[in-house]
Amino acid sequence: MDIDKISRKEEKIKLGKKIAERVKDGQTIGFGSGSTSYLTAIEIGKKVEKEHLHIIAIPTSKEIENVCKQYKIQIGNLVENKIDWAFDGADEVDPDNNMIKGMGAAMFKEKLNIANSKITYILVDKSKMIKELDTNFPIPVECHPLALNSVKEKLIELGAIEIKLRQALKKDGPVITENNNLILDVRFTEIYETLEKDIKDITGVIESGLFTNSYNIEIIN
Ligand code: A5P
Repeated sequence: MDIDKISRKEEKIKLGKKIAERVKDGQTIGFGSGSTSYLTAIEIGKKVEKEHLHIIAIPTSKEIENVCKQYKIQIGNLVENKIDWAFDGADEVDPDNNMIKGMGAAMFKEKLNIANSKITYILVDKSKMIKELDTNFPIPVECHPLALNSVKEKLIELGAIEIKLRQALKKDGPVITENNNLILDVRFTEIYETLEKDIKDITGVIESGLFTNSYNIEIIN
């Protein structure tokens, strides 16, 4: 992450500091991904270093794992550890706390952490609070490469009106996720109640960045 290029950096650091205040010795914490989570991980790292705390982090991407390692925070996983609480960013949040995430392509592990945490603090600057989902961002869908075409067909049956294979920047070809899959950025005619589940039910879909089920989240902004 190029820290100098992060938008609304000061606002995000403030959110990070708020979260760092909640960290207590002995806790297992789910770490989200994206620039807000990155800055938050640094704030937590500084606190851990200064106060000689021992915590376990369950990171949702290599990038966040690296920040944790830099601050000598122990890395855990969901097989061996139980999350006390988690934090993450989001791309869009509507008035009912439904979210779109995944612009960093890390939504599979993010959803795993969120679904396995009693509470997840979602850190969003004001630009992320919108009236309706799909205002600024499409819904990312991670799919297995072998299922690319069949997943596209099924998404159209669910009402997809635009499907773009996410392309890498500064590398030719598509984005390959940390799970070795592809990302489709999808716009739908309508985001209806069962859409998250319907996308997940498609064979070959790993996860989507749509969070409309009642996850235990608290918005911090
Ligand atoms: C990562 O896959 C995403 O879900 C991020 O949490 C989301 O894109 C927010 O990122 P920023 O904090 O960089 O806006």
